[in-house]
Amino acid sequence: MSVVLKSPAELELMRQAGRINAQVRALLRAAVRPGVTGLDLDQIAREAMAERGGEPTFEGYTAHGQPPYPGAICFSVNEQLVHGIPTDRVLQEGDIVSIDLGVTYQGYVSDAAFTVAVGEVSEEVRELIRATEEALWAGIEAARVGNHLGDISYAIGARAEGYGIIDGYGGHGVGRNMHEEPHIPNKGRPGTGYKLKAGMVLALEPMLAIGHPATYEERDRWTVSMRDGNLSAHFEETVAITEGGPEILTRIDE
Ligand code: MF3
Ligand code: CO
Repeated sequence: MSVVLKSPAELELMRQAGRINAQVRALLRAAVRPGVTGLDLDQIAREAMAERGGEPTFEGYTAHGQPPYPGAICFSVNEQLVHGIPTDRVLQEGDIVSIDLGVTYQGYVSDAAFTVAVGEVSEEVRELIRATEEALWAGIEAARVGNHLGDISYAIGARAEGYGIIDGYGGHGVGRNMHEEPHIPNKGRPGTGYKLKAGMVLALEPMLAIGHPATYEERDRWTVSMRDGNLSAHFEETVAITEGGPEILTRIDE
């Protein structure tokens, strides 16, 4: 496996990429309300990134023979899991939406996402969102020198009790490229897999579903949705593994 370790200078650039990501996500979170569209939020993200010297990582991205991704953000509503393309679909009271943002700053990528309810949602739905975020925190906590990749995957999966864990999607290394090795499944066995080292930067991204974890790709070739039409949630942060423990690059205290 070819994992790219980051030098202190590279980590500093990744911190800046992460900081912009955090600032722009905060603006997006504040803009989510009934009546807003994915394209409105995409525009907010583009302007806020440009003001800060960041570029939209996702725009033009292509893999697996898919057409180039058209958005600056991913905007995945309700049963849509990830990679939803921003459209003029209007958010309604009671929806939940996952917003995913990639920022490239001086050639380095930060990748992070959150799920938020639009207005009032049921206790069951609030619980889904909370459990997914807690699974992310558990994964971050396990991102320590000397642990193995399987410890992160296990920590995430162990928090997902009662929910469907989506197979085939997961976290990844991040750096000059959005997707670097290793791939990080959202369940696993402790003590197995790659041994974590200082200088690794990982995007951890648990995805949980209320129903069955099977997904399909919509006709736009990007949007990944739940087969059974039930709700799903997604959180992601970019995390550096340091001698002093996990450092979340895509967070700011404000
Ligand atoms: N966080 C997502 C991922 O790691 C973002 C990809 S969106 C894409 O897969 F459109 F750029 F693919
Ligand atoms: Co990602």
